[in-house]
Amino acid sequence: MLISFLSAKGSPGVTTAVLALAARWPRTAIAVDLDPQGGDILAGVGGGRQPVRHGIVELLVEARNTSMAAAMGRQVVRPTPHSPPVLAGFGAPGQAATVPWDLLGSHLVDVPGADVLADCGRFTLDHAVSAVLRRSDLVVLVTGSSLRSVRAAARTLPLIGREVGEANRGPGRLTLVIVGPDLPYTAEEIAGGCQIEVAGTLPHDSVAADVWLDGARPGRGFERSRLQRAAGVLAGELADRAAVCRGAGTPPGVGLNGRVLR
Ligand SMILES: Nc1ncnc2c1ncn2[C@@H]1O[C@H](COP(=O)(O)OP(=O)(O)OP(=O)(O)O)[C@@H](O)[C@H]1O
Ligand SMILES: [Mg+2]
Repeated sequence: MLISFLSAKGSPGVTTAVLALAARWPRTAIAVDLDPQGGDILAGVGGGRQPVRHGIVELLVEARNTSMAAAMGRQVVRPTPHSPPVLAGFGAPGQAATVPWDLLGSHLVDVPGADVLADCGRFTLDHAVSAVLRRSDLVVLVTGSSLRSVRAAARTLPLIGREVGEANRGPGRLTLVIVGPDLPYTAEEIAGGCQIEVAGTLPHDSVAADVWLDGARPGRGFERSRLQRAAGVLAGELADRAAVCRGAGTPPGVGLNGRVLR
């Protein structure tokens, strides 16, 4: 299965969420960095100790001469013992323009023995990664809970919904995850304001976030941290939703909460 994560505006914590969730996913999960602005997963987890010799560009080059499954096997790395397997992203923003996104999406949605959690960066109207969103079993918009964040999410959701709806798959394929709820808006208020179901929340937890984003070594309490415990609950919920959506088939144009998108 392929679950894509993206933001509307600002930096709400997409990369952190993808890594925290992949580490707690109920099946094997690969965190794939597709952010067109340039990947930062390997600079974060492990603090850059893992040299960036592997990634999306290398995967596509290698796949020309071998199968995609074999290329994935060589390009996916585990930078530290506490990290999920990761496929690193682009060294520079311009590289994203050269990627056959639909072909890549068609492979990522069916990686043998693993689910893919893709960090797609910030959504824009001409978003390079839209072809991957259309292939995804589940698309997750990550937002904060401030008025600015929620307004940006509310404005962006119908645009993403249009991309996702075209794929002729199930309702609820687009969902929302809130990082740091109640600051000040609650999950219920945000669901109402954005007219979408909220799949769950992740707490503000700077100590645990630093492990994923800034190469901090995980302390003894890391696995029981608020972030990792919440990620475990949310991972189960998202995996269930993705499985339901993968099995579903509904008319095109149906996205938010099963509403018809206009
Ligand atoms: N759950 C969290 N608790 C506390 N801080 C967090 C959390 N998630 C992210 N952060 C912090 O917020 C900042 C942005 O996080 P992150 O890079 O994950 O966001 P992003 O949405 O991927 O941003 P970008 O658009 O730059 O890729 C980082 O400094 C990170 O430590
Ligand atoms: Mg990011």
